[in-house]
Amino acid sequence: MSVLSIENLSIDYRAETTVHAVREVSLTLERGEILGLAGESGCGKSTLAYAITRLLKPPAAITGGRVVFSSREGYDIDLSSLAGDDLRAFRWDKIAMVFQGAMNSLNPVLRISEQLEDVFITHRPELSKADRRARCADLLERVGVDRDRLRAYPHELSGGMRQRVMIAMALALEPQVLIMDEPTTALDVVVQREILREITRLRSELGFAVVFITHDLPLLLEISDRIAVMRAGLIVELDDALTLYTKPKHPYTKRLLSSFPSLTGERGGFVRTGEIALEETDQTVEA
Ligand SMILES: Nc1ncnc2c1ncn2[C@@H]1O[C@H](COP(=O)(O)OP(=O)(O)O)[C@@H](O)[C@H]1O
Ligand SMILES: [Mg+2]
Repeated sequence: MSVLSIENLSIDYRAETTVHAVREVSLTLERGEILGLAGESGCGKSTLAYAITRLLKPPAAITGGRVVFSSREGYDIDLSSLAGDDLRAFRWDKIAMVFQGAMNSLNPVLRISEQLEDVFITHRPELSKADRRARCADLLERVGVDRDRLRAYPHELSGGMRQRVMIAMALALEPQVLIMDEPTTALDVVVQREILREITRLRSELGFAVVFITHDLPLLLEISDRIAVMRAGLIVELDDALTLYTKPKHPYTKRLLSSFPSLTGERGGFVRTGEIALEETDQTVEA
């Protein structure tokens, strides 16, 4: 059962010269899965993410195709049909997103509690103040931040903590899809790992599907169910993570894999948690 279908989507930037940033991309996101989107800088990943969340701005223009959301309640929505309040509600409620610099978009003069509560005040006005407070505290704990941090101002939190707050906000209304565009790229490796573990756990708990975008292929191999490899606006390969890693088909995928020493080094430093034994990875990696 898919929750999102991208059908032949094409997006151009109409500047002095036209850039075909996304070219007839077709993808489905299954309910509850983590779909990784890999590819070098400039290949069109963010453009695709912005299209899915209807955040594209001129000079970007969708020149063909469509994105359809299939709600768990059983109805389909062509995203291009949404506008105004419907679009805003849809964006928090059904599809939420976390971007790389998200943690810097917290308002510096408001406490974390106020910023989290705002989401509920806007989108769940029927909640009582007490219920709202309780939900905010629960949300924070869900993403691994102590509830007394509710009283903190953003500058009192580390970058990792602030990014967790952003993830909490994205999850506030229990969306069915979470789009994450380089959400941990600015963070150090240990914090990055912790947050990723949190996301995979939350996905099991809450059942949302994730499109996880990064140029960091080793990281994607670790957390994704399936991976799409994008190059120059095209999806050149799409497969489950293990197959993509052990039996890449497209020359570009092979090249991308071999560009990460941790994946190809003699000791096969990378292990997809619990699924590939070290010995196996050593043998299957192409030289
Ligand atoms: N505002 C813009 N105007 C013109 N071209 C753009 C604009 N934003 C992005 N592009 C171009 O679109 C392509 C895809 O960019 P982007 O989606 O940001 O790639 P990625 O996220 O994979 O790094 C690139 O060639 C980039 O130069
Ligand atoms: Mg990008």
